[in-house]
Amino acid sequence: MHKIIINGGKKLEGEITVSGAKNSAVALIPAAILCDETITLANVPNISDVEALEDILKHLNAGIERRDNGELYISSNTIENKKIDKKLAKKLRASYYFMGALLGKYKKCEMCFPGGCSIGTRPIDLHLKGFEALGATIKEKGDNYIIQADELKGAKIYLDFASVGATINIMFAAVRAEGTTIINNAAKEPEIVNVATYLNNMGAKITGAGTKKIKIEGVKYLHSCFHEVIPDRIEAGTYEIIGAACSTNLKVNNIIPEHLESLNNKLKEMGVDITVNDDSAIIKESTNLKSVCVTTAVYPGFPTDLQQVLATLMTQGTGESEIHENIFENRFQNLYELKKMGAKVKVDGDRAYIKGKTTLTGTEVYATDLRAGAGLVVAGLIAEGTTVIDNADLILRGYEGIVDKLRAVGADITLK
Ligand code: EPZ
Repeated sequence: MHKIIINGGKKLEGEITVSGAKNSAVALIPAAILCDETITLANVPNISDVEALEDILKHLNAGIERRDNGELYISSNTIENKKIDKKLAKKLRASYYFMGALLGKYKKCEMCFPGGCSIGTRPIDLHLKGFEALGATIKEKGDNYIIQADELKGAKIYLDFASVGATINIMFAAVRAEGTTIINNAAKEPEIVNVATYLNNMGAKITGAGTKKIKIEGVKYLHSCFHEVIPDRIEAGTYEIIGAACSTNLKVNNIIPEHLESLNNKLKEMGVDITVNDDSAIIKESTNLKSVCVTTAVYPGFPTDLQQVLATLMTQGTGESEIHENIFENRFQNLYELKKMGAKVKVDGDRAYIKGKTTLTGTEVYATDLRAGAGLVVAGLIAEGTTVIDNADLILRGYEGIVDKLRAVGADITLK
């Protein structure tokens, strides 16, 4: 397991460019299976979650090539639809997208329950109910699922919760089905739009992505296409928070401001000096930060993925900040690590309280999950002394070149 070591207290200055969105790329890559020809993806982030998905595609004998210009080329005509075993499936949550893609293309998928960050139980009941509504039968044998259908027919599906994964997975299973599928109470995250546009570029007929009602008219054939991964709004938000925490002047390039509205409003409420341009944000040294209250919600509400990162900045705000986590039931583990560094935190069910302004002191801490790890990087950059973040591989799952990007703007950070 890698460690990230940070000697904190440096003031950062310069520019950081945001990479392609992990939570788009991890859906776009399995979806290549649905295509009858070949696809080319641009701006795919070079992160371990992408490598894990490439390994699954290779296991299925898909043709896959990472070109010198960073583009990912996938051809599906050599695919053998075989079981995806535990070792491959457990590496990440997004392996579940192979369920919708293999079911949608071959009407059968056999694979193990997905992995993913330990931020809650993270069932996949909504995915499975969607598949059944389209005509699939599901056999569970322990951790293993066999999902198959004689034929897939369009259906009206209502999601009890606007689940990102279930919305995308049902789109995959419906895109080549007989007839029309409606997904009501669909998730509206930008990644959903990125995926729907990709499928439409192949010849799919999907309308309403980005709204709570998505219509999918099944088609028989999906042709080659070229598609670009959108910028990662969670990576962008992480660097904006780092700018607010310890920079004199940090420019975050390649952002889509609309995707960051909820965070940027909160940063302004805290007194952060942030200027948002068409495709970048400039954060200047921000003193006298104030406490703030955050309630996580589905998009366009405040993203659950950023509350763990903002929690670290809250330690630098004067007063008591509050986080109300509505999406996952176990997403405050990072606070116990922050406490080791001197943070004053209290957790009460789905609410957390953080008192500031506190001095953070470097020590050994542990990345319990991806975004908790990102929050610890922010803490290490702020803290006096040396912070050693153990289990740092989790951070590398979702942040392309994070050590190089931060070193380039003056951080004293190494990966061991
Ligand atoms: C996606 O996870 C993201 N992961 C998560 O990002 C993100 O936090 C989450 O969406 C919410 O925005 C990927 O895209 C790979 P959900 P997903 O289905 O699809 C419950 C990160 O750090 N639920 O919207 O798993 C579930 O337990 C990761 O990048 C069911 O009950 O999220 C959770 O409480 C972390 N049954 C809530 O819904 C289901 O069938 C939201 O889950 C599915 C979900």
